[in-house]
This record gives sequence, structure tokens and C-alpha cells, in this order.
Amino acid sequence: MITILIILLIFIISVILYGVFIERNKLVIREITVDNIPENIILIGDLHIRKDIKLYEKVGKFVRDSKAKIVLNIGDTFENILDYNFLSYLDNKRTYFVFGNNDYGSKESGKREEKIKKILQRHKIKVLQNSNVKLGKNFYLIGIDDPHKNRENIEEAFKDIPNNSIKFVMCHSPEVNDEILKYKPDYLFFGHTHGGQVRFPLIGSLFNNVRHGKVPKIGITKKNSTVLIHTTGIGTTLFPIRLLNPPEIILLKRGTLPQLSDF
Ligand SMILES: [Fe+2]
Repeated sequence: MITILIILLIFIISVILYGVFIERNKLVIREITVDNIPENIILIGDLHIRKDIKLYEKVGKFVRDSKAKIVLNIGDTFENILDYNFLSYLDNKRTYFVFGNNDYGSKESGKREEKIKKILQRHKIKVLQNSNVKLGKNFYLIGIDDPHKNRENIEEAFKDIPNNSIKFVMCHSPEVNDEILKYKPDYLFFGHTHGGQVRFPLIGSLFNNVRHGKVPKIGITKKNSTVLIHTTGIGTTLFPIRLLNPPEIILLKRGTLPQLSDF
């Protein structure tokens, strides 16, 4: 009996060490082919940068060296507010950012938000807070402010967008209200959940930090006419561990949309 317990303990410790020191620093590039995009797009999220560790250098180099010029950063980039080296890798890209709950922080005095905006401005990163931008002929990018902090204003975000245009929506968390589907976005990108960070075979994740709404599957699914893309992101929160769920960058490539299951 004691031998079994010792073996079990060694197994658990080994799995934890693997999650903390190996898997957490692996980087996976998840390629998804989508239609209706003018060019390839990089999607990153939930960096939770604490210091410039090797993982962020890997992420930065991939982004910098990629031919894709548009980068969508769906929030929770900041922990301490520092002008991280990582952000310099984005300097030659057209990067768009939506705030996540962690970027706003717990006190929400507005000072943190302003500081972050200044840093982003230095790196020519455009912040979308319930607003939109035209990316190409008939092609709009909409940024919904963080629904985890109840900051979304969907009507404002979609203001002045012609009905027949292609609409890509960035939103930090899947907690955005289903009201958004009335605006028939073509694509809806979100993260926030980290895919639970620790995933178990057959069960998946135990905790997603989502207060309401159902969490769509990781990767690509659809709801009505909207394609949902849910990224597990790059960093960690609470515990510095990832299991069966490595950090990922999503590369959206022009192509044919795969057959999708309904969310
Ligand atoms: Fe978040």
C-alpha cells in the first residue's frame, strides 16, 4: 500500500513539475483557415506578462517574423504595468487591442487604464473600446469592451457599420451577451478562460472563471451564422501551470472554412 502511495505521489509531483517548467513554456501555433479575410491575421491573448521570460520572446519573435501584418490582441496582457520588451516585437504590425478584466485591475481608478493606453500608444497599438475600425473594403473590426467587468456596449461598438459588411469582433471574454448575435458578426474572437489552464483527459477543464453564459469549445465552432474562435491564450493566472493545454498563438489563414459543429 505504501509503495503504491509513494508511486502515486511521485507521479503527481512529476506531472506538476512538467506543467510548471515544461508545458507552460511550450508554444503551439494553431492554424485555422477561414474565409472572408483580406490577409492572414494573428490572434493572441491572455499574455499575463509578469517579466520578460523566454516564452514571451518566442511569442514576440513568431509575431515579428510572420508575414501576417494584422495582430489582434484580445486582452489580459498586463500584470505589473511595465513597457515590456515583448511589445517592441509588435512595432511593425497593425495591432488592435481590447482590454481584459486583468488589464483593468481590481481597483479600476482609471489610472491603470490610462497608463496602459500610453504604453500601447508608444507601440502604435490601437485600443478598441466599444468601437470599430475599417480594415479594408467592406471589412470591419469591432472591439467590445470587457464583459467580465460589465463594460460592453454592443450597440455603440457596431455604430455606423453598413449591414452587408464583413464583421470581425474581438471581445476579451465569452461572457458577452447573446445580443451580439443580432448584429450577425461573421467572426467572434475571445479568450479569458485560458482553457482552464489545467485540463484532464475526458473531462477537460474544471474552472473557466466565467460568471455567466456557456463556454464554447476551444478552437473553432459556430452559433447561428457566426463563427466563434476561442483561444486558450498564452500566459497563466493564479498558478503558474498549464497541463494538456499549452500556450498558443492562433494564425488565421485565408482558405476554406472547415465543417463546423454548432456551439
Ligand atoms: Fe481575463
